[in-house]
Amino acid sequence: MNDEHKKKVNQKYEEQLQKGERFWPDAIYKDLLVSFALFILLIGLATFVGVHPEPKVDPTDATYVPRPEWYFLFLFEFLKYFPGELEWVGAAVIPGVLVMALMFLPLYDKNPFRHNSKRIFAVGLMSAIVSGIVTLTLMAATTMSNLVAVILGVLVAALMFFSLYKEVPFLQGAVRKAVLWVMTIALVGIVGVSYQQTAAMASDEEEVHVASSIAEKMTLGQDLYSIQCVECHGPDGEGGEIVGVTGIEDGTFVKSISSKDEMYTRNDGSLFDIVSYGQPNLGMPPYGGSYGGSLSPSEIEYIVTFMRYTWDDRAEVPAEAAGAAIPALAEGEVPSYEVHVSAVTKRQCLSCHREGKENNDYLMDTYAGILDGGINAPNVVAGDMNSILLQTIQGVELSGNDGEIIHVMPPNGKPIKDEYIDIFIRWVEAGMPETADDAAALSTEVVPVAEETPSE
Ligand code: HEC
Ligand code: HEC
Repeated sequence: MNDEHKKKVNQKYEEQLQKGERFWPDAIYKDLLVSFALFILLIGLATFVGVHPEPKVDPTDATYVPRPEWYFLFLFEFLKYFPGELEWVGAAVIPGVLVMALMFLPLYDKNPFRHNSKRIFAVGLMSAIVSGIVTLTLMAATTMSNLVAVILGVLVAALMFFSLYKEVPFLQGAVRKAVLWVMTIALVGIVGVSYQQTAAMASDEEEVHVASSIAEKMTLGQDLYSIQCVECHGPDGEGGEIVGVTGIEDGTFVKSISSKDEMYTRNDGSLFDIVSYGQPNLGMPPYGGSYGGSLSPSEIEYIVTFMRYTWDDRAEVPAEAAGAAIPALAEGEVPSYEVHVSAVTKRQCLSCHREGKENNDYLMDTYAGILDGGINAPNVVAGDMNSILLQTIQGVELSGNDGEIIHVMPPNGKPIKDEYIDIFIRWVEAGMPETADDAAALSTEVVPVAEETPSE
C-alpha cells in the first residue's frame, strides 16, 4: 500500500465519520427494519406455503434413504465422486481446507484494493465455487440432466462474475447491460422449465396408493398373503405338510398360524417381526426389505391386518370389509373369471402359479394365462370336462406331455373346498366367460343346457 493510497483511504474514512452514521440508533434502526421484514416474510410463508411433512418415521424401515436439507445437498452430491474408503476426503478434508482458507484470508490476501473491479482473481475463484455449488445442488435436488445443471451453474457463475467485475474490455456500456439481461432471462427460463418438470414428476409419484381404512388394508393384505404365504401356510393359515414348494423340503410340517392359540399369543408387533425377519432356521424366508425380502413395512402391516381381522375372533371386522369373501354361486348362475375364478385362483393357486415360480410355467394371474399357459397347455378347454385343471383339482393325478407327473392340485394333499371346485366346473362348462357381463348373458340360457349335459 503506497502512501498516496493510504491518504486517500484515511480521507474517505474521515468523510464518513463526518456524515455521522451511528450504531445507535441509526444502524440498530436499519437492523430492526430488515428483521421485521424477514419476520413478516416468514409468517407469510408459514401461512400460505407451509411445510410438506415427510411420511411418519418408521424405525423398522431400513430402506429409507435419509437426505440432508437442500442447502447441504451439494455436499451430499459431492460425496458421490468419492469411493467409499475415500469418503472422508470429500466429507471433511476438502470442505475443511476451504473453510480454513476463508478464515485465514486476511493473512494472505494482501491486495490493497477492496473494490471487486480490482480483484479479478478473488471474484473469479468465488464465482467458480458458487458455480460448483449450484451445479451440485441442482444435480441432487432436481431431475434435470447433468448437462443442464452444468449450464445453469456456469450461467450463474458468469452472471456473478460480470456483475462484480466490471473491467472486462469487450463488455462495456449497453453491450454489458444487454448481456447481463439475456443471461438473467435465460437463467430464470431454465429454472422455471425444470421446476415445472420436477413438479410434474413429483405429482406422478404422489399417486401411489396408500391404504387408509382397515377394509382396504385387509384387501391388500389378503392379496399379498395369497401370493406370498399360501404355498406354505395354506389359504386359511391352516398349515400342515408343505409339498411342492421350492426352497423348503417336502414334508416340512407347519403348525396353523390362524388358530386361536397363535392369534392369542402373538400380537401385531410380533407377527410383523416374524414376517419381517422370517424364521430362516425353520425354512421361512424373510419378507422385510431390510432383511433381503421384497415387502415394504406397510405391505407387511397389511398382511398382519388381514391375518388379525380374518383369524382372530376377538377382532371385529368392520362392516365394509365383510364383503371381501368369494361370492357364492346362485342356482344356475354362471361364474365369470372376473368375479369368481380369479378370486379362487388368487387365494388357492397364485402363490405357486405366478411370475418367478417354475411349476410347469403355468401362470394363473391372468385370464389368458389360465387358458393358454403351462407346458401342458391348454389346461382348460371350453366345455371339456376332462380338462387337465379340472381333473387335478378333483384328485386325479395325470401324466404330462413330457412324461412327468402332474400332481393333484394343490399338491399338499388338501383339496380346495367343494364350492370352489364347483366354480371351476361350471365355468368350464359354460365356455369360460371372462367378464361378469358375459357370464350374466350366459346364465339364463345355459342353465337348462348345463343340466342336460350328462356329467361324467
Ligand atoms: C417357504 C415356506 C414359507 C412361506 C412362503 C412363508 N412361511 Fe411362515 N413359516 C414357515 C415355516 C417353516 C415356519 C415355522 C414352522 C412352524 O412354526 O410351524 C413359519 C412360521 C411362521 C409364523 C410363526 C408361527 C409361530 O407362531 O411360530 C408366522 C406368523 C408366519 N410364518 C407367517 C407367514 C406369513 C404372513 C407369510 C407370508 C408373508 C409366510 N409366513 C410365508 C414357512 C413359510
Ligand atoms: C404349493 C404349490 C402349488 C399350488 C398351491 C398349486 N399348484 Fe398347480 N402346480 C404346482 C407344481 C409344482 C406343478 C408342476 C407339476 C407337478 O409337479 O405336479 C403344478 C402344475 C399345475 C398344472 C399343470 C400345468 C401344466 O401345464 O403342466 C395345473 C393345471 C395346475 N397346477 C393347477 C393348479 C390349480 C388350479 C391350483 C389352485 C387350485 C394350483 N395348481 C395350486 C404347484 C402348485
